[in-house]
Amino acid sequence: MASKRALFSGKLGVILTTVGSAVGLGNIWRFPYITGENGGSAFIIVYIACVILLGIPAMLAEFSIGRATHSNPSDAYKKLAPHTPWHWVGKLGILVGVFILAYYPVVSGWTLSYLFDAITTKLTSYTGDYGQYFNQLATNAWMPLIWMVVVLLLSHIILCRGVQQGLERVSKVIMPVLFVLLIIMAVHSCLMPGGPSGLRFLLVPDFSKLNAHVVLMALGQAFFSLSLGMGCLITYSSYFKEDINLGKSALMVIVLDTLVALVSGFIIFPAVFTFGMEPQEGAGLAFIVLPGVFSKMSVSFLWATLFYLLLFIAALTSLMSIHEAILSYVTESWQMSRKNASRLIVLVLCVLGVLSSWSFGPLSQFKLFGLTLFDSFDFITSSVLMPLGALLTSLFVGWKLKKQWFINQLTNQGTISVPLANFFWFLLRYFVPLCIFIIFVGKLLDV
Ligand code: TRP
Repeated sequence: MASKRALFSGKLGVILTTVGSAVGLGNIWRFPYITGENGGSAFIIVYIACVILLGIPAMLAEFSIGRATHSNPSDAYKKLAPHTPWHWVGKLGILVGVFILAYYPVVSGWTLSYLFDAITTKLTSYTGDYGQYFNQLATNAWMPLIWMVVVLLLSHIILCRGVQQGLERVSKVIMPVLFVLLIIMAVHSCLMPGGPSGLRFLLVPDFSKLNAHVVLMALGQAFFSLSLGMGCLITYSSYFKEDINLGKSALMVIVLDTLVALVSGFIIFPAVFTFGMEPQEGAGLAFIVLPGVFSKMSVSFLWATLFYLLLFIAALTSLMSIHEAILSYVTESWQMSRKNASRLIVLVLCVLGVLSSWSFGPLSQFKLFGLTLFDSFDFITSSVLMPLGALLTSLFVGWKLKKQWFINQLTNQGTISVPLANFFWFLLRYFVPLCIFIIFVGKLLDV
């Protein structure tokens, strides 16, 4: 095991890296289209309830495990519960990470390809159907793979420079760029003629749209967006110094992550309504509807470039966080150098990436339980393994560890006061496992 482990330099590093992990394709690509499909603002209200009542306690659980042990997810459980099978929960998390990274880099690659086409104005000067434009890319055997490899190599190069010099430093530069891009684009969108309709769609609730399915979607989205349930945040918090206030950091990350998701809605829906397009477009929203919207704006290539740059930064920092979680495990458990461990991981991810990318083209007929490989990786992670991981983590902290242990973590051994510590303990012990269990079973029956 590495004798001297890296740490983030301070509060700013903690917030920007963790927000970098949380803010990803989940916020800018998935949140708007799921909101569109599930009726807009009513979904958002349920989503915010999930984030507060389940997201905060679950994040505090991961933060306390990581910061208390300064270890990768597997060793963390081993240290807190020696000679028990709990370390399998950590290992399961790493496996989930590998499955997420079987498809996440493919989508990240698409964003990079769109960014490149936006800069060269190829994207916005296209006059055909953008559905076809997207299909040409996704079903192509080689182009998506090349972009995917570029993204993975970028993550590899950054992470090989180390936790502080690579991960933290890059996050500190590109996350502020992301916030600025987000604000510029939101202001521009809301000032368009469709601004009021877009905002109404997001802000005026229609409760007739609420049903069990909407609640299931909201919870899954909340966990995915907050990077919960796979040990990613255990790894990040293992780099937190002892004086970091876990409660404040979790709150800050959650508020920023939710704001970014909402503001992405403020960018997308006003623009979609301005040009008379449909908000319920589904997964094609960012890659099919939006290019059409951008192409109708003046200085179209500029807006397209800014948007896909935003999407790419978000995707890259999230991808790096999962890569880092797997990397910390492989380096420490298999005693490899960071560089070699990362090379091995990238190699495995390339193979899995070929499978998911080709599931749109050459392998599109190959199905597991009726799903393409890409959809299977998505389903097995976000609908099965992540809720399971989050359930086990909350049971671990809520039932296996003592209440005093959790309170000590939150209060930094009693040196700071945390107003709602008892309330979050209660949520973690009873409410979180119960809700995840109900939703988990509901989701499995839903298939
Ligand atoms: N939260 C990221 C997003 O919104 C994705 C992500 C990063 C993630 N790390 C994770 C999801 C860990 C689940 C678990 O796109």
